[in-house]
Amino acid sequence: MSAHHHHGAAHGHADPTEDLSPTEYWEQRYSGREPIWSGKVNETMASVVRDVTPGTSIDLGCGEGGDVLWLAEQRWQAHGLDISATAVDRARDAAAARGLETATFTATDLSTWEPDPDSADLVTASFFQSTVALDRTAILRRAASALRPGGHLVVTSHAAPPSWAADHPARMVSIDEEVAQLAQPAEEWTVVTAEERPRAALDPEGHAGEHLDAVLVLQRR
Ligand SMILES: C[S@@+](CC[C@H](N)C(=O)[O-])C[C@H]1O[C@@H](n2cnc3c(N)ncnc32)[C@H](O)[C@@H]1O
Repeated sequence: MSAHHHHGAAHGHADPTEDLSPTEYWEQRYSGREPIWSGKVNETMASVVRDVTPGTSIDLGCGEGGDVLWLAEQRWQAHGLDISATAVDRARDAAAARGLETATFTATDLSTWEPDPDSADLVTASFFQSTVALDRTAILRRAASALRPGGHLVVTSHAAPPSWAADHPARMVSIDEEVAQLAQPAEEWTVVTAEERPRAALDPEGHAGEHLDAVLVLQRR
């Protein structure tokens, strides 16, 4: 949440989303007729995972399922979880339309979700960031604990607002913070990639700009 929002709320221009629970907030975000994401895979995640032997994967905050559908196409047993039942319904419909039986989805609040131990070869989280409450680090660490030895955690996040915006409503994550919070205990993890990467994008008027992504890839020893 930006300082600007807090300031506004304190002076009576309350943000109408501020009192919503995470479930209500995200259901509202997905309540329109149209999808809110592109449906395409996040290229950063794809570029890492292309070289990994397929197995069982878990995607945290999968939204409308773009990453899970791509993983299933690459022969992963791909499972996606999201707090929004509407987003999960869209993901399931897309999987059915594309005949991807190995793409499965669950609507659940990850803050109370427990993975089965030793159940995953890959855990992904793409822009698993929120404007409302989200216990992100605890969720990522719990999911990472389900990885089998040799399994990968691939987390792509907004490290900064886009070049055309002064701020971003969700909490930004630096790569140093990511490493400090997730590559723990250090003897259990090999840090494969830890960097902030610019990514070209168009601003709302169609002019060239960029995002800055924090890209963390860990491998369980
Ligand atoms: C910025 S979106 C990213 C969606 C998708 N990974 C992508 O890259 O397009 C964040 C997602 O996290 C989900 N989310 C937020 N809090 C959650 C929670 N506590 N449990 C499960 N999903 C949550 C939201 O519903 C939303 O779909």
